[in-house]
Amino acid sequence: MSDAYCPHMGAHLGHGGKVRGEAIECPFHLFCFDGAGSCVSTPYGTKVPPKAKLPMVPLEEKNGLLLAWFHSEGRAPDWHAPALETTGWLPLTTEEWVINTHPQETTENSVDLGHLPAVHGYRDVEILTPVAVDGPLLTTRYAVWRKGLAHFTTDFRMEFNISVWGLGYSFVEVEVPAFRLKSRNFVLVSPIDGQRSYFRSAMTVSDESDPKGLSPLLGLLPKALSLRLVRAAAFHGYVADIKKDLAIWQTKRYVEPPARAVGDGPIGVFRRYCRQFYSELHPAAHLVAQAG
Ligand code: FES
Ligand SMILES: [Fe+2]
Repeated sequence: MSDAYCPHMGAHLGHGGKVRGEAIECPFHLFCFDGAGSCVSTPYGTKVPPKAKLPMVPLEEKNGLLLAWFHSEGRAPDWHAPALETTGWLPLTTEEWVINTHPQETTENSVDLGHLPAVHGYRDVEILTPVAVDGPLLTTRYAVWRKGLAHFTTDFRMEFNISVWGLGYSFVEVEVPAFRLKSRNFVLVSPIDGQRSYFRSAMTVSDESDPKGLSPLLGLLPKALSLRLVRAAAFHGYVADIKKDLAIWQTKRYVEPPARAVGDGPIGVFRRYCRQFYSELHPAAHLVAQAG
């Protein structure tokens, strides 16, 4: 995958660029670039400028997602999120927002136990496996009780199995034993300009989930249709939860060090884990280092 901006004079190739054979043509002066990012032609008929090279970013297609690796010093990937077995899982359903925050702030949600009752209305938060860090991977498991869905169900227990891979890719397996429901949630955050980020979420459910667990009426429908309805209902609930976090993220600011209290969850462990993802040459690294 290439950078979006033309190295000639900066036009955005995603807005008016055209694919010409194996190359992409910039809409501004019609320079063409091949799959390796090299300029291969200009309409001037003169020698192509050797410096006109599109920066390339490694791209992987994995788990139904396109995952791009970005390193501010251009280093190659030294770790990869694991490929998951997708057989037995419905196609992903997705939604995205542009929000005024940084990927570290959104990812911190995974360990911020204090906000679960306050923002999401969960109760009886129970840590099943304490947070652990292994290089770029941070894991933890916890369970919560959640209010029933609009008088439709009674309160139910949810178990979250969280794997955070860096600040742009979190994978959360959710189990709701009462509904025999298993879902996979991806939280995918990309910084835009230091102030804003794309926040993308994707979800799928296992085809072993039992729709009758959610409602006996769903058992009357063909299984494929009822599973899609279950996925839609689960995603609706997930998005409703995300929107509660979004309302906070849009206006909060980063506080380091926080005025910590017992009950916060392992915020300090998370912030130390995050340091590995900042380049020494990146200004944010100095902020983190000073604060630490
Ligand atoms: S800015 Fe792309 S060809 Fe000039
Ligand atoms: Fe949250």
